[in-house]
Amino acid sequence: MTEVKFEGETGRLHRALAQCHDMVVRRSAVFESLNLSTGEKVLDVGCGGGFYTYEAAQFVGSTGQVCAIDISEDQIGAARQKCTDFPWVECRAADVLDLPYEDSAFDAIYGVQVLEFVANADDGLKELLRVLKPGGRLVILSTNWNSLVWFSTQPERMKKMLTAFDQHAPYPDFPAELPSKLRKIGMKAVIQKPLSILNMSYNENSYSYWIAKGIKQFVLGRELVDVAEVEDWFEEFEKLEREGAFFFCSTSVITEVLKTS
Ligand SMILES: C[S@@+](CC[C@H](N)C(=O)[O-])C[C@H]1O[C@@H](n2cnc3c(N)ncnc32)[C@H](O)[C@@H]1O
Repeated sequence: MTEVKFEGETGRLHRALAQCHDMVVRRSAVFESLNLSTGEKVLDVGCGGGFYTYEAAQFVGSTGQVCAIDISEDQIGAARQKCTDFPWVECRAADVLDLPYEDSAFDAIYGVQVLEFVANADDGLKELLRVLKPGGRLVILSTNWNSLVWFSTQPERMKKMLTAFDQHAPYPDFPAELPSKLRKIGMKAVIQKPLSILNMSYNENSYSYWIAKGIKQFVLGRELVDVAEVEDWFEEFEKLEREGAFFFCSTSVITEVLKTS
């Protein structure tokens, strides 16, 4: 397993990704599940550049509080800057495995594409439930990477790239593992909802445009596939776009959990 650090170029890439239209739609779906109210105290786990934090701040308003944590100092710096107009937002560098909060501190907690990166995700889940109030809501969004269908005229090369990319996280199909992880700690998902992204076009407003850059960076940085092969894989997308033949479809899952006691 080769751990991803969301610093420097990787951090910048993820902040650019967070601004594309597909991610705006994703944020809207997560907030629909969270159903935040004015005055609530909410925790954004693995907040990245603070794009969700910024919106959560507006849902809870100045009588509420948003605490945002991330293990990356770079991302926390960016999140703090993004939310500078909201004094009720507190951004701190912290690990989900050791949260700097009291038991039962939050009405709602969410983590988007985070727990799959945490080797001991079971302990991460326990820690989240510790700081959630009884009756509080936990919303987790992650992607089942094996749900991905991405057209290439060279399917074997595509398979090789995606297999190499599976090493980006300890749990590349986290939503599929989550129900059993929850059961182990005496919890149960209230609901799991699929959220698909389908790109028939390859441009800066599409998820796949940024994911292709991220996969290329990851695979090249760890020398998992031959450089020329990675470049050819990457360059094919512009060609497919010109021919009207680009197709990318992946499914993420929103998991809602209610802490009963
Ligand atoms: C794919 S990014 C998602 C960022 C943000 N939630 C979003 O969707 O825009 C994953 C984030 O989780 C953070 N992260 C990874 N492991 C973590 C841990 N153990 N504790 C806290 N944050 C962590 C990373 O630093 C990174 O910013």
